[in-house]
Amino acid sequence: MPKINENYLNLKESYLFTEINHRVAEYTKNHPDKKVIRLGIGDVTRPLASNVINALHEGVDAMASAQTFKGYGPEQGYEFLRDAVAKYYESHGVSVDPGDIFISDGAKSDTGNITDIFGDDNVILIPDPVYPVYVDSNIMCGRKITYISGTAENGFLPLPDKNIHADLIYICSPNNPTGAVYNREQLKAWVDYALENEAVILFDAAYEAFISDPELPRSIFAIEGAKKCAIEFCSLSKTAGFTGTRCGYTIVPKELVFKASDGREVSLNAFWNRRQTTKFNGTSYIIQKGASAVFTEEGMAQCMENIAYYKENARIICDVFAKKGIRYFGGEHSPYIWFECPNGMDSWEFFDYLLNNAQVVGTPGAGFGENGQHFFRLTGFGTRENTMEAMERIEKLL
Ligand code: MLT
Repeated sequence: MPKINENYLNLKESYLFTEINHRVAEYTKNHPDKKVIRLGIGDVTRPLASNVINALHEGVDAMASAQTFKGYGPEQGYEFLRDAVAKYYESHGVSVDPGDIFISDGAKSDTGNITDIFGDDNVILIPDPVYPVYVDSNIMCGRKITYISGTAENGFLPLPDKNIHADLIYICSPNNPTGAVYNREQLKAWVDYALENEAVILFDAAYEAFISDPELPRSIFAIEGAKKCAIEFCSLSKTAGFTGTRCGYTIVPKELVFKASDGREVSLNAFWNRRQTTKFNGTSYIIQKGASAVFTEEGMAQCMENIAYYKENARIICDVFAKKGIRYFGGEHSPYIWFECPNGMDSWEFFDYLLNNAQVVGTPGAGFGENGQHFFRLTGFGTRENTMEAMERIEKLL
C-alpha cells in the first residue's frame, strides 16, 4: 500500500470557490425560476481585445503549414513574449532581464508550484486574509505557517514584525481579497526585512494593472534590493481577460543566490528552470502569440478600456456601501470590494442570506482566513447590467 500524502487531510474539505459553486448549484436546483447574479469568483466577463483575437488566429494559422508549424516550444516561453513582458516593465520604470522571465499558464499554478524549490522546514509567513492558494499549497507540503494579521486597523496592510523570523513571505498587492495596495515605503519595509532575514518574498502582482496612481508600485522590483530577495508572479487573467485562455509569468532574478547546506551557491533561477524543464512543457504557442498582442500599444489600450469598465463597476458597488454607511475597503486600485458583514453576521451566514434574499453570490471573507470571518468580498468583474441589478437588490435588502 502506498504511503499517501497525509498533509492533504489537514486541508479544508474543498477549495473555497468549489464550495461556493456547490452551494449555488444547490440553490439554483431548488429555485430554477430565480435569476442568480454571480459576483463571487474574480472571473472576467468582457471578451478578449480584438487584436489579441487576431494574434490567436495567426497562431492557429501558423500551425496549419509545415513552414510555420510549431512543436515543443521553450519551457521558459518564446523569446518574443519574454521580451514583450520585459518592455512592459520598462514602461513602468522597472528593469527586468527577459532571461529571468518564465512564461506559464497563470499565477495560480506558479504560486502553487513554487513550493517545489523550497525545503519543508522553512518558516512561511502569510498574511491573513489572503488568496487561499498560498496557504493550501503549503499545507499540502506539511509546512509550518505563521500568519500576520491584516485588519481594518492596519488597512489590511500588515507590516513586518522584527521579532518574528521568516524564510518565505507571501505578499499580494493589490491584495486579493481586500483590494488594499502597499505604497513604496511599506514595500521597502518588507524588502529590508527580507534582506535582513535572508528571506524570499513571493510577490503576487496579478492585479497590478488596476493601479492607477503612478506613486504606487506595480512590481516588487520597483523597490531597491528586491532582486536579491523576491520572486514575482503575474498573470494576464485580470490584465487582459485571460482567465479561460490561461497565460501568466514568473520572474526569478538571477541575483537570488543562496547557500545550500553543503556550502554550494545555489541560484533560484536555475532551480526554477530545472523544475520547469522537468515538469512543464511550456505554454502553447497559440496562446503566447495572443498574449504578445496584449503588450502592443493597441492591445494594452484595449485591455485598459476593459479594466476601466470593471473599475466603474467597482465604483457602483462602493457607492452603495458608502450610502448605506457600511465600512468597505478596496475598489479603487483593485476589482475587489471588501466590506464588513452587516448586523454582526459571520461571512458564510451572510453568503446564505444574500443568496436567499437577493440571489447575489459573493465570496465569504472566512475563505481567505480567520480575519475575514466578518467580512465579505464582491467583484467588479461582472457585466454592468448585472452589477447594477445586484447592487439595487443589495441596497433594498440592507
Ligand atoms: C479570486 O476570485 O480570488 C480569483 O479569481 C481566483 C484566482 O485568480 O485564481
